[in-house]
Amino acid sequence: MAFQRTLIIVKPDGVARGIIGQILSRFENKGFRIAAMRIMQISLATAKKHYAEHAGKPFYPGLLKFITCGPVVVMAIEGNDAIRVCRKMMGATFGPEAEPGTIRGDFGISRTQNLIHGSDSPKSAKRELALYFKTSDYVKYPIADMKWIYNLGSGQPV
Ligand code: RTP
Ligand code: MG
Repeated sequence: MAFQRTLIIVKPDGVARGIIGQILSRFENKGFRIAAMRIMQISLATAKKHYAEHAGKPFYPGLLKFITCGPVVVMAIEGNDAIRVCRKMMGATFGPEAEPGTIRGDFGISRTQNLIHGSDSPKSAKRELALYFKTSDYVKYPIADMKWIYNLGSGQPV
């Protein structure tokens, strides 16, 4: 199980609805560390780079319009298997399909306004994180519960 860093974005709907804290809490509760975070409005140029893989698809113009329509919270989240686990916590892409218990499943019903973005692979995470953060933005700090969350309480390795 690799210790990973992933990009999470609370999308404009999550910020506008005042649920940044509820979304963030889920990652904190899970035992992840927030290594960098900023509230900002994504420029069209950055949005195009971010979602380059979807260029030319029918939903692409609407996706760009939505992700740039208001402030977002971008964050780098770290922890064991963070990329896969965060995707699982987000739920399926479209609100109506997202499982209860996931962020998209619990907070939304829209297909486009789906509250949260998370990198889908180590390669995507590296590329996407570089769009929003520079190396000096990342901080390190001990999480008080770390030794229990990461199964070190009994002296056993992770
Ligand atoms: P995201 O990149 O935003 O974290 O979402 P995702 O990985 O779950 O989904 P992805 O396939 O990367 O699609 C990016 C965003 O485009 C919109 N979308 N609409 N067929 C459609 O109408 C369609 N497919 C994708 C969604 O808003 C999705 O979050
Ligand atoms: Mg995606």
